Amino acid sequence: MKMPTILGAPRRARRATLPAERPGGRRGGDGQSILSEEDRRALVVPRDTMIACDNLVKIYKVADLEVVALQGLDLIVKRSEMMAIIGNSGSGKSTLLNILGGLDRPSAGRVSVNELDLLKLNDHGLMRYKRETVGFVWQQSSRNLIPYLTALENVRLPMTIAGKSFREQRDWSKEILDAVGLGKRMRHRLSQLSGGEQQRVAIAIALANKPPLLLADEPTGEVDTATAKSIYQIFRRLRDQYGTTIVIVSHDPAIAFRVDRVVAIRDGRTSTETVRRAGSTDTEQTHDEFVVMDAAGRIQIPREFLDQLGMSDRVHVEMEDGRIVVRPVERRLSGFSGTPAAVS
Ligand SMILES: Nc1ncnc2c1ncn2[C@@H]1O[C@H](COP(=O)(O)OP(=O)(O)OP(=O)(O)O)[C@@H](O)[C@H]1O
Ligand SMILES: [Mg+2]
Repeated sequence: MKMPTILGAPRRARRATLPAERPGGRRGGDGQSILSEEDRRALVVPRDTMIACDNLVKIYKVADLEVVALQGLDLIVKRSEMMAIIGNSGSGKSTLLNILGGLDRPSAGRVSVNELDLLKLNDHGLMRYKRETVGFVWQQSSRNLIPYLTALENVRLPMTIAGKSFREQRDWSKEILDAVGLGKRMRHRLSQLSGGEQQRVAIAIALANKPPLLLADEPTGEVDTATAKSIYQIFRRLRDQYGTTIVIVSHDPAIAFRVDRVVAIRDGRTSTETVRRAGSTDTEQTHDEFVVMDAAGRIQIPREFLDQLGMSDRVHVEMEDGRIVVRPVERRLSGFSGTPAAVS
């Protein structure tokens, strides 16, 4: 198996968005920010960045038990990027999406969306953020929809609440329903539409107030393969037409063929990235796979590599001919000498 290349976030974005770095690029050993309050405030997220998560932590407390759903997650998403987040069940995908959607707050760390610091928003600001900046598509389309209204009425409802003019409601709701391929069925009630069509209405509702960011939590989890493909095509068209940034959570590794970049989350942290190579077409695509490295130089070595070489809590790390070699600690009793894993 090929070792993925190690990827650090782009230098410019890193410097501007990671308050936990000191000028030399190091984070405190305890994961805490080592910048003064003043320095933190001076840091500005670059304009081409839609999402910047820095050392995000989310701990759920249930009775006496603490569940660490996110443990120091870093993520940068550029404007108009269409990307996916994959990971095993329980790895923290929905937790991250809920934080980005303003539905939940992190326990620690920083998160900014569209140049807004989500932790600094008060209740009113959060309400406006949810109404204007972010659209959400849930796995169960019923969560997005009102069954006794038509597709058109469903899309107009959030626009009415946001105080949009009658003319804008009429024009945009038709345009967006056309864009999701439901132009001819917009006067149908939800009960008269299939699951895939309802999911397309849900996407149109999420875009009713023209948010710059669309978040979708397993939007194709309950539809067949053909419908899933058409939903991804709609996402791409929306991105191309309106410049919407789209983040899709999925279990499906094949999603790499539908988006520009896939970030894998493992145990509440970003672990690997798969980036579509420039020049790839829909029929012929090539990808580069990277391991994500955080500001402190931490990486997650793929589990199968660790298992193969019997690496557990301690390893040797050495420089050799311009490569960093991670070597298992010899187990003297069993006489195991171990083959090194090279990181270049
Ligand atoms: N409200 C909650 N209270 C307590 N623990 C929670 C809560 N929500 C999530 N968790 C826990 O946090 C961890 C991450 O959950 P999350 O829902 O983010 O996973 P996920 O990656 O979306 O999984 P799936 O693919 O199954 O949807 C899990 O261990 C989960 O049990
Ligand atoms: Mg989930």
